[in-house]
Amino acid sequence: MSTYRIAPSILSADFTRLGEEVVSVVQAGADMIHIDVMDNHYVPNLTFGPLVCKALRPLTALPLDVHLMATPVDDLIKNFAREGANIISFHPEATDHVDRTIQLIQDFGCQAGLVLNPSTPVNHLDWTLEKIDMVLVMSVNPGFGGQQFLEGTLDKVKLVREMIRKSGREVALQVDGGINVENIRSVASAGGDTFVAGSAIFGANSYSQIIGEMRER
Ligand code: DX5
Ligand code: ZN
Repeated sequence: MSTYRIAPSILSADFTRLGEEVVSVVQAGADMIHIDVMDNHYVPNLTFGPLVCKALRPLTALPLDVHLMATPVDDLIKNFAREGANIISFHPEATDHVDRTIQLIQDFGCQAGLVLNPSTPVNHLDWTLEKIDMVLVMSVNPGFGGQQFLEGTLDKVKLVREMIRKSGREVALQVDGGINVENIRSVASAGGDTFVAGSAIFGANSYSQIIGEMRER
């Protein structure tokens, strides 16, 4: 896949003006909106529920990309899909029946993504890559925005890119955590095609300038 996509994570947005923030990154050239769902159980932080997805849905036609860091996931998937999510990703450790959960997401007409934490082995893709629409490689441990990019995860991105190539399927490779203007090129060289960025985008003065610079790199 040669099209690169930038996915601002609203985790780093100004929550007092969440709607405006989303409209601003859309106008600035975002390709999708990344929604980090945390449950204070799977990860030690608490963020958005389906109501936030519902509130944002009328603001943009761009895909709403829901990253579930929660367990269990199946009921959440139904609720986010009903509120307009387009892509739903989950961690294999967060559900007992990964294949069934992938199917559930796709039955709701959404694209399904499987998330690999820094320590999660890539063999979770062995019997799932033939079915999923996206792999999300975490380049930080999930739970918080603004963490430092873990360089070691670039090897995993390369490995996953190779697995996708061998599968012959069109599967997106999203990378999430600590991505900025300085390192986005190395993530792309390793094989990433979809780049989540929270603090790097929402911490910038000009969203269009930062998204433009990221795309250029
Ligand atoms: C981390 C989240 C990321 C995070 C990215 O658990 O999944 O999406 O918001 O934020 P930055 O770009 O600040 O690392
Ligand atoms: Zn995320």
